[in-house]
Amino acid sequence: MTTGTLLAVDLVLAVLTAAAWLGGGAAAAVRRRPLALALAAFALLATLSRAITIVALARAGWWFAAEKVLVAAPLSLAAVAVAGPRLLPVPGDVRSVAVPLLFVGYATSSALLVTVLHGYPASVGAGLLAVAGAVAATAVSWRALGARPSRAISRVALVVAVGALVTGTGLTVVPAAPVVPHDHGYRAARTTDEPTRRFTLTAGTATVSVSGRDVAAWAFDAQVPGPELTATVGDVVEVTLRNRDIGRGVTLHWHGYDVPNSQDGVPGVTQAAVLPGQEFVYRFRADQVGTYWYHTHSVSDVGVRMGLYGVLVVRPGPVAGLDVTIPVHTLAGRPLPDARVERVAAGTPVRLRLVNTDSTTHRYAVAGSAFRVAAIDGVDLRGPTSVVDTAVLIPAGGRYDLVFDAPATPVALFVDGRAVYSTGPVSTPPGDWPVLDPLSYGVASAVPWSRFDRTFTLVLDRGLDLHDRLPRYAHTVNGATDPDIPPQVVRLGDVVRFTIVNRSATVHPWHLHGHHVLVLARDRRPAAGSPLWLDSFDVRPGEVWEVAFRADNPGVWANHCHNLAHADAGMTTHLMYS
Ligand code: C2O
Ligand code: CU
Repeated sequence: MTTGTLLAVDLVLAVLTAAAWLGGGAAAAVRRRPLALALAAFALLATLSRAITIVALARAGWWFAAEKVLVAAPLSLAAVAVAGPRLLPVPGDVRSVAVPLLFVGYATSSALLVTVLHGYPASVGAGLLAVAGAVAATAVSWRALGARPSRAISRVALVVAVGALVTGTGLTVVPAAPVVPHDHGYRAARTTDEPTRRFTLTAGTATVSVSGRDVAAWAFDAQVPGPELTATVGDVVEVTLRNRDIGRGVTLHWHGYDVPNSQDGVPGVTQAAVLPGQEFVYRFRADQVGTYWYHTHSVSDVGVRMGLYGVLVVRPGPVAGLDVTIPVHTLAGRPLPDARVERVAAGTPVRLRLVNTDSTTHRYAVAGSAFRVAAIDGVDLRGPTSVVDTAVLIPAGGRYDLVFDAPATPVALFVDGRAVYSTGPVSTPPGDWPVLDPLSYGVASAVPWSRFDRTFTLVLDRGLDLHDRLPRYAHTVNGATDPDIPPQVVRLGDVVRFTIVNRSATVHPWHLHGHHVLVLARDRRPAAGSPLWLDSFDVRPGEVWEVAFRADNPGVWANHCHNLAHADAGMTTHLMYS
């Protein structure tokens, strides 16, 4: 069983447990004796069986089990111990066991809330709040059922509740993060003797046609995707961004391109958003070859979804054969691009540059030819072998370059089962093909570092965020949300290791700006294939990724989930050079 499944099973068990205790209490209150006893018996069994899932989760990693071991287990067991003597032997009037049963129900429910609303790291405050909630609810039920809680019990309840409120409401307060300074004052080289590729992109509202239907979009140069920017390695790229009428502002972020910090395009961190009527000039040397993309980073979830993105391709030199870029996107609920057919002479070398510009994973499959994965996230793989009838999963923001020599028969690329590109009449669509695991593809080489100057752990989860005017169920990192997540502070030259843990039930495509990270391990299994230098990788529910990089690009860099709705809902942190 994967840790993700285990997390789900444990959650279901926890819900059933709480529901059974509460149901048993309710049934006892209305004197439904057999039902009450059956539910109580089931609840006891479910409570004990959680020992198995909690222990298994703790073995998968303390992050998955901390609050279950420290809060849920002791609280439920204590409640059972307190209530137990009042349950046996079952009295003639079953109504008299209603309050004890409800008490265990409240205890297990509040422990469940700690998992769902607070998560990792477990805190004393959260535990106390859970105790207070259970005691208070029990006292209310006691009164409602006509009995009077004794003075002593009421006093204890009051003391626990007040104590819990005092310590517990601090439960989401983390020490304020140092203010992220603006613009590190990097000045891009301004010599004029380098070949310069100049572009101008004008952002504006537009109507574009998607599979034959007009939809409202935000677009660069009135097209979605925006113009494809290409350069040859060594060129200086200079892009003038103009904003015609995007009221919420626009920037250009060069996704996967490790530009100087001042050119990174993150509003509020490296520049101010470009407002209607304004412009901003980006300038950087194109010294990374490969497939990248650009997108706005101002209200990025809405902005990118509405169409403010395009492709950036840097080639080593003149192209031999066919070299096509296929950015996949969902605009107004419809898939882009439209299907395209291009005849290719047999024997022509083909490179398909696949880009996922959506916020969720896509599944890509090439039918009709074996292929190699030449590069991922712009970086060439070592010793890629030929595979056939195999799918690849590209995370949000990620890129794969697939290469093959065109056979005499047609080849087709499918995205989530839809033919997007082909070299002739579409061959049979791909079946339930196995998925390529990049961690065991290609030829390994030794990890360049054996010790790390800094290590950071990011635990991804959901949690209640009380910092805004309205409470929200946010996406959290180590129990906090942007801007309260402490930054990861490094020094220039440090070798830095990140452990990224997904405790939640959804995929989080992780993306660090300004650096490619080398994958060391996933779920404690060391990466065994070609060195993988990624800028975007899916951390699936229950997964633990270990990645590392050398801190060689000073500045303040966003480090966030590339499901941009999650990023906007709190899951954004920063890497900062001291
Ligand atoms: Cu492509 Cu900060 O993102
Ligand atoms: Cu996410």
